[in-house]
Amino acid sequence: MGKVWALGFACWLLVSPLVLAQSLPGPPECKADTMKKIAFGVGSSAAQSEGAAAVGGRSPSVWDVFAKQPGKIQDGSSPAVATDFFNKYKQDIALMKSMGVKNFRMSISWSRLLPQAVKGSSPSSDGVKFYRAVFKELKDNGIEPAVTLYHWDMPQVLQDKYQGFIDRQIIEDFTYYADVAFKTFGDQVKKWTTFNEPWVTCNLQYGNGDFAPGVQYGDSGKWKCGHNLLLAHANAVRLFRQKYNSDKKGRIGMALWSEWSEPWTDKFEDKRAAQNKIDIDFGWFADAIHFGDYPAQAKKTQSAFLPVFTEEEKKLLRRSYDYMGLTIYTAKFASEVPGNPNGWWVRTTDVNGKVVGQQAESYWLYNVPWSINRMLTYMKNRYDNPYIWVLENGISEKGEGNRVGMGPDTLRDPLRTDYFRGYISEACKAVESNGVRLTHYFAWSFTDNWEWREGFKTRFGVVRIDFANPQLPRGIKDSGRWLSEHVFKKSGQTKQVGEVLNFDELGAAC
Ligand code: NOJ
Repeated sequence: MGKVWALGFACWLLVSPLVLAQSLPGPPECKADTMKKIAFGVGSSAAQSEGAAAVGGRSPSVWDVFAKQPGKIQDGSSPAVATDFFNKYKQDIALMKSMGVKNFRMSISWSRLLPQAVKGSSPSSDGVKFYRAVFKELKDNGIEPAVTLYHWDMPQVLQDKYQGFIDRQIIEDFTYYADVAFKTFGDQVKKWTTFNEPWVTCNLQYGNGDFAPGVQYGDSGKWKCGHNLLLAHANAVRLFRQKYNSDKKGRIGMALWSEWSEPWTDKFEDKRAAQNKIDIDFGWFADAIHFGDYPAQAKKTQSAFLPVFTEEEKKLLRRSYDYMGLTIYTAKFASEVPGNPNGWWVRTTDVNGKVVGQQAESYWLYNVPWSINRMLTYMKNRYDNPYIWVLENGISEKGEGNRVGMGPDTLRDPLRTDYFRGYISEACKAVESNGVRLTHYFAWSFTDNWEWREGFKTRFGVVRIDFANPQLPRGIKDSGRWLSEHVFKKSGQTKQVGEVLNFDELGAAC
């Protein structure tokens, strides 16, 4: 009997990976050639992953301070350890390599590189050492970094000194920080992003106070923040072009957040409402870096608070990107506000009461694959067919934060797997049928990480981390296996990344 059982068990061990593999959906609906043209990868950010909050002289970011205030973070956690990427980066990079990942989006912590943060201050040698070691490890493993300078982690010293983005001083200090980063890491990093999701920074960090630093600056703060941030971006881009990118091997852009806004009905008023939302949320930054000014709709409706660019500033802003970075997760419907031609109402159900897509753990997120196609095609049409990098795309699976241990069941994420299959297929359609020039796509996120106000409760990783275990073990989820097999290993982008870096082919330098 024992023998039979042992034989059965041995057979199960042999067969189970096949059974598991068979349970995954097939490849995305993409031509092989399209897969080769897009550099696929995974993403993370410093505050959400590094930990080591006070190591090597790093000074706190606004999130370190904010998280200490009772009730701010849903599970009472903090970014002090996060995924411990600071200590585990070699292990994480080895895991990426095993999955066939060839592109990694990450960010630098401003206050780790420059603990005093201000113009003229000295870089921390420990900070420099850490990032150089990470970039080297990536290179040694055939992975290309794409680096964001600001992913919401304002140094607390700048918050204390002049309230961060509220003051124009941020323009000089950010440009100095960018200068130090370009100079120190330029031999290792060619792909840069100035700011991550300025919409979030200016609405939640410097508008309603929901996010760190947790101060309510209101509408006046929100538009001021956007203005200063845009000028900081444009100055950093000019510096990069003039001082660091004469060989045109590098690329720089901004990561713009948008959810697609679909008119609720075919009525003119609903179409106008959807466009109003896109203008105010996305055009706020996209129009500014492309045309050099705010959208007409913003000027018309926000004149009480919206600052005005000088002619010189407009010139500086115009085409201040090599690629247009997009972070896209979902879509909603927009309908008119009767009596208000400038407004919009956001709806999650269509006219027949059908929900726009399956809901995620995050209240704002629904699985709507066609959203990415419409957004990409919109950007193509409005912004003169730019090169587009999808810098984030992903979903939080319901209830994942409550899973215990690292058993096989904790790695099942059918919604996320389906989401990636659907969105990547639609992105390919945008390229193949609509002529969108999408050259990069990063799945968000590589591992589960510290999800800001939601702490460790909400998970986005394609790799699971058991945060209850002090060793923080990692395990590849089904979505990670799917991406590995059908996307990372199929895209063959190491060579392609080289080609992408050859500007003549892209023609996007200015
Ligand atoms: C966008 C942010 O850039 C990222 O930090 C966050 O984790 C994801 N959205 C998911 O909420």
